[in-house]
Amino acid sequence: MKLLVTGGAGFIGSAVVRLAVGRGHEVVNLDALTYAGRLENVAPVADSNLYSFEHADIRNRAVLTRIFEDHQPDAVMHLAAESHVDRSIDGPGDFIETNITGTYNLLEAARAYWTGKDKAEDFRFHHISTDEVYGSLGETGLFTEDTPYDPRSPYSASKASSDHLVRAWFETYGLPVVLTNCSNNYGPYHFPEKLIPKVILNALHGREIPVYGQGLNVRDWLYVEDHADALLLAVEKGTPGRSYNVGGHNERRNIDLVKTICAILDEKRPRDSGSYTDLITYVADRPGHDARYAIDPTRIETELGWKPSVTVETGLEKTVQWYLDNPDWWQPLLNVEGVGTRVGTG
Ligand SMILES: NC(=O)c1ccc[n+]([C@@H]2O[C@H](COP(=O)([O-])OP(=O)(O)OC[C@H]3O[C@@H](n4cnc5c(N)ncnc54)[C@H](O)[C@@H]3O)[C@@H](O)[C@H]2O)c1
Repeated sequence: MKLLVTGGAGFIGSAVVRLAVGRGHEVVNLDALTYAGRLENVAPVADSNLYSFEHADIRNRAVLTRIFEDHQPDAVMHLAAESHVDRSIDGPGDFIETNITGTYNLLEAARAYWTGKDKAEDFRFHHISTDEVYGSLGETGLFTEDTPYDPRSPYSASKASSDHLVRAWFETYGLPVVLTNCSNNYGPYHFPEKLIPKVILNALHGREIPVYGQGLNVRDWLYVEDHADALLLAVEKGTPGRSYNVGGHNERRNIDLVKTICAILDEKRPRDSGSYTDLITYVADRPGHDARYAIDPTRIETELGWKPSVTVETGLEKTVQWYLDNPDWWQPLLNVEGVGTRVGTG
């Protein structure tokens, strides 16, 4: 399959690019290389003759039209987005422009290309989204594909808007779309502004490990390479017009997750004295912080045969080891604006 992957230099997109090329797919990686996009993330496949790169912005429709014409993809996997909730609180504008207007541009460029291909039935527009569109759960219950949308941050509202556009392009124009909504990812190449890499790197530097509120918020964690596997399955086998929730049955309270990471580090790189848990510091909560997310992945498991390969404990072990082994990757990122400081306090 020839895949046009947007956001392929980001955290999840690069995992998709690496896996897809490894499985023999041809990949065109379209990325604007914002602060979150790093070509180092695709270095393991960059020399493959199955891989090519287009430095382009999804806010520019003319460029998208040219890229479809030049590359003639069989499918689009759309991951390009502004993705950090805290940044969306301080500056929602970029989230509106990239996540909503950018998705609209991509849909229109894809529709024109697909129409020129006599509306090929096997073309796919796969939109990658988040479980945050469903809002926040109480202590029980799971998000299913039928859970009503109830986004509560500028980030999740922009993703919800893009999901609605994608569905409308299926209902109105018949564009063969597939959607996936996934829970929180973690793993190698995760940008250090996000919780798990921040905990690992602050710990390694002997800095305070900030935990929002009381650390009681619950997230359902998925190893990024398991997510990439689910995404390739969805683009190859997903039914047009259908959405699939992706999650790994790995609900953890933030504080428990942080303590698990500290315990792994205590094993692998012991401190001179004490435990890394001594560095945990409770800080003011994020405004509008959703209490709990948890995914029911029954549909993707039963209809597409997907299963995650690792538990959160194994995945965290692999992730911590990757950060210990790859300081050359993360060291330069510590100076990126917003990484070492608190953003998104409202
Ligand atoms: N990280 C998660 O836990 C998670 C969970 C569920 C869904 N998602 C979704 O998965 C997708 C990828 O998330 P991620 O964590 O890899 O994000 P990321 O921030 O690591 O990467 C985003 C990529 O998109 C690129 N990009 C941003 N704006 C662009 C533009 N205007 N034009 C072209 N490229 C642009 C960036 O350069 C970067 O390479 C997003 O759509 C996100 O909403 C993420």
